[in-house]
Amino acid sequence: MQVLVCKNPAEVAEAASMIFASLIYEKPNCILGLATGSTPVPTYQRLIALYNKGLLDFSKVRSYNLDEYVSLAGTHPCSYRYFMNTELFDHVNIDKANTHVPNGLGDDPEANAREYDKMLEECGGIDLQLLGIGRNGHIGFNEPRNDHFVYNTNIVTLTQSTREANAQYFDKPEDMPEKAISMGVGGIMAAKRVLLLATGKSKAQAVHDTVKGPITPMVPASILQAHQNCQIICDAEAASLL
Ligand code: F6R
Repeated sequence: MQVLVCKNPAEVAEAASMIFASLIYEKPNCILGLATGSTPVPTYQRLIALYNKGLLDFSKVRSYNLDEYVSLAGTHPCSYRYFMNTELFDHVNIDKANTHVPNGLGDDPEANAREYDKMLEECGGIDLQLLGIGRNGHIGFNEPRNDHFVYNTNIVTLTQSTREANAQYFDKPEDMPEKAISMGVGGIMAAKRVLLLATGKSKAQAVHDTVKGPITPMVPASILQAHQNCQIICDAEAASLL
């Protein structure tokens, strides 16, 4: 696990967008693992800017997102499908048919989870997986637990900490779903390269525990210590406890 400490969130986004851009130049039909949340937004903005300058072509890129809320349609402004469309996909020449977000709708979310794993297996492997990190050390929506890591895509009951962190995006905090569908740590670990971004003081403890603590399902991101090609890019505040 390699850690790069940048001065501020703008530098984190600059470094991350360069890594994405070089992969897309080198391998135009690459498979990206994408994340939502506030952390990757400046990175997506830089990728859009490169596209607008004619420097990036997403026409052959395929993508798989980490997670989605259970019971929110993709048209709901708080759904992660909506987020991806408005923050990235609508602004570049990616074919939306080549973009995948777990499906939180329908009577059988568990079946959707199995279907997502099948798609991940069949896609041939994610080339570059982007991650944010929760204040509690979650990656995707793999929340801390005291028994074992969950490897497959799964239905998660969100913790109080995650619900509090994300309620701000909903008009009424009580509208926030209690469950989500998330790629498991197995899907994340199977990516050829992993890039975790962390910015701000609220992530400092989670970054510390991820890098310096034991590998434990209580800190889901700590499993990345066992990944062959994982980089963490954080700003000075997120790195302040290292
Ligand atoms: C989002 C995701 C989450 C976020 C994490 C940090 O797809 O999987 O793990 O990356 O909750 O969120 P922000 O960036 O909003 O602090």
